[in-house]
Amino acid sequence: MRIVLVGPPGAGKGTQAAYLAGNLAIPHISTGDLFRANISEGTPLGVRAKSYMDDGNLVPDEVTIGMAEDRLEQPDTAGGFLLDGFPRNLKQAEALDGFLKGKGIALDAVLDLEVPEDEVVKRIAGRRICRSNSAHVFHVEYQKPATEGVCDTCGGELYQRDDDREDTVRKRLEVYHTETEPIIDYYKSQDLVITIPALGKVDEVTRRAMAALGRGE
Ligand code: AP5
Ligand code: ZN
Repeated sequence: MRIVLVGPPGAGKGTQAAYLAGNLAIPHISTGDLFRANISEGTPLGVRAKSYMDDGNLVPDEVTIGMAEDRLEQPDTAGGFLLDGFPRNLKQAEALDGFLKGKGIALDAVLDLEVPEDEVVKRIAGRRICRSNSAHVFHVEYQKPATEGVCDTCGGELYQRDDDREDTVRKRLEVYHTETEPIIDYYKSQDLVITIPALGKVDEVTRRAMAALGRGE
């Protein structure tokens, strides 16, 4: 399956993507994780992306679209993919459509994770991620690691993201409303959107999403 996951910052896209991609045996492609990997490796792309991310702004399309398409060109996407955090504005959505059309393929679904804003703020405030792999995501209250500050999956150190400061979070939410929400209507016009209420336990949300994709138990 070829799936796009949308939802405000902190909605649980990365958390759900890890489970959904595992269940569906497709790669999880997060542009945020790709940028963070570039930042920790100190690549020119990472250096360029960091200033935008730290301010809560989108990284420019000319950087992001190329990076996402390069990742989609990898052979592991032949059986499908789960995109998390891309596309994030209309220009990226149109670019993705053009890219897929060029390959004679199309998206199967766009999952829209719906979470009230006050909950999103709580989720972000308590989020901790792993230095070794930013796909390993925890929460100080809701998804506590067995040992404080240590990743359950790989033993890496847990830290708070630079862009999870309160002022940056406010900016990211504003950018979500102005730039990203319009893609939901764009995909609604293609009849692809499935809204998933994303309050509740992580595994309940995963079950709802799997059922919505017609892959429930
Ligand atoms: P990105 O990394 O994509 O961040 P985001 O969209 O802001 O989303 P988050 O990672 O903050 O949240 P999430 O929805 O994945 O939630 P999570 O699962 O972690 O992007 C970061 C930046 O990179 C952007 O601001 C931009 O600058 C740049 N960027 C990325 N893509 C781009 C693009 N396409 N174009 C331009 N720029 C781009 O969960 C949050 C917390 O809640 C965790 O602690 C988790 O444990 C907890 N949690 C999850 N589910 C539940 C639950 N059901 N109950 C309780 N707690 C839960
Ligand atoms: Zn880890």
